Amino acid sequence: MGDDNITIDPWGSAQSTDYSRIIDQFGLTPFQPTSVTSPSKLHRRGIVFAHRDLDVVQEAQRKGDPFGVLTGLMPSGQMHLGHSMVVEQVKWFQQQGGDVSIAVADLESQATRGISLSKGREVALEEYVSNYAALGMDPETTNVYFQSRRPIVQRLGFQLGKRTNLNEFESIYGFKGETNLAHVQAPLVQVGDILHPQTEEFGGLRPIVVPVGVDQDPHLRLTRGLANKTNWFNLKDASSMGLLVSLSIHDENAEVFGQLPNGRVDREKVGGVFSQIVGALKDLGFSDVISNPKQGNVHIPSATQRDKHNIRMSLLHLERQLGGLGLLAPSSTYHHFAVGMTGSKMSSSQPKTTLFLNDDLATVEKKIKRAFSGGQSTVEEHRRLGGNPDTDVAYQYMMYFFEEDDSFLSEINSGYRAGTILAGEMKQLCIERATVWMGHLHEMRDQTAHLVQDFLAEDAQ
Ligand code: TRP
Repeated sequence: MGDDNITIDPWGSAQSTDYSRIIDQFGLTPFQPTSVTSPSKLHRRGIVFAHRDLDVVQEAQRKGDPFGVLTGLMPSGQMHLGHSMVVEQVKWFQQQGGDVSIAVADLESQATRGISLSKGREVALEEYVSNYAALGMDPETTNVYFQSRRPIVQRLGFQLGKRTNLNEFESIYGFKGETNLAHVQAPLVQVGDILHPQTEEFGGLRPIVVPVGVDQDPHLRLTRGLANKTNWFNLKDASSMGLLVSLSIHDENAEVFGQLPNGRVDREKVGGVFSQIVGALKDLGFSDVISNPKQGNVHIPSATQRDKHNIRMSLLHLERQLGGLGLLAPSSTYHHFAVGMTGSKMSSSQPKTTLFLNDDLATVEKKIKRAFSGGQSTVEEHRRLGGNPDTDVAYQYMMYFFEEDDSFLSEINSGYRAGTILAGEMKQLCIERATVWMGHLHEMRDQTAHLVQDFLAEDAQ
């Protein structure tokens, strides 16, 4: 119908898997597995396929500077394999030195799914946090909190709501006049989730990365836009060479920036701000800084793209000293969705489409046996034509979840295509690995049950 744009609805059941179009349309950066040290299987296999500003996090990682990881969980339904993928990524960042915040989206699930706060708490602890512990997250550097019990999360959402409007919500989420306002409030609370770890109280200014499926990207676009709109200083490429810092004047900083109520400008105040900018830049080692308070900018001719991040951080610190929020736009990574076991979308409301983390081993076996297969309909045809591992659930689940060994995977991939491995044999391989993986998880859940409390932040006790 002429409109071939993808709309991503985080609450909808439709799910686009046209990942290259998503990259183009939403301006994601393709992920290069070689760009990370000690890549996980999700990185090596192209399952993590795109990011925004991951380099900022990687630089912090390299330098040993602090950085944080944030994720959120909806305390409704049971935790399944799809959820475990996010945990694997969070755990990977944690092992690289990141501190972890986990939002229990109890306000969101109350408003959008009718789950009471007390039920949400119960589900979060029994279904989710217990599995996070069993999957090997480190309680020492993990803080699980509840949206309903962390006022700063709600306050930030409210405060930043001022910098967006219904038109923007319409273009990001496709909202219409009949949209329930819970769907307006929930994203604002999620903005608070994503940005609050940078506040002084929760760890201070540092890069925060949010690993998500593409269904959550609308929230990241919103959050990044809002963070940028609050910034007091802009940093952009100068038209000649180098970088240019300018003031972004709005009502929260008008006074500090010397904008008098009568429309005049307090030159002395402006001069003071400019010398603070120059001072900050000199501290970073730039000696050739040209300050033009009259034109409203500071030019750093010798600065290059590689200096951008350091300069930005230093300006955010200065903004905070002057009374601003000083928020850095979050980084994010995106992963492909594993196919549902029936061949359609994986969904917690349809038990046949996934394995729940507490499915018993007999159920695991039964579901894999019945799973959608990329094999041919008869053995004879399969031997002749070969199977398709790209649509074969048993193969896909080994690739996404159960098999660490890349060379084994590529062996069975070509064996399947060549028709030497049959569909039933592929399922048997998957059942063996799934049984080991699930068996181990269940054992770990018993062993780590006593740690659940240790994952909770002070305000979540
Ligand atoms: N909206 C998310 C979901 O539907 C849950 C969530 C809340 C979240 N806050 C978050 C996810 C922050 C990532 C980051 O699952």
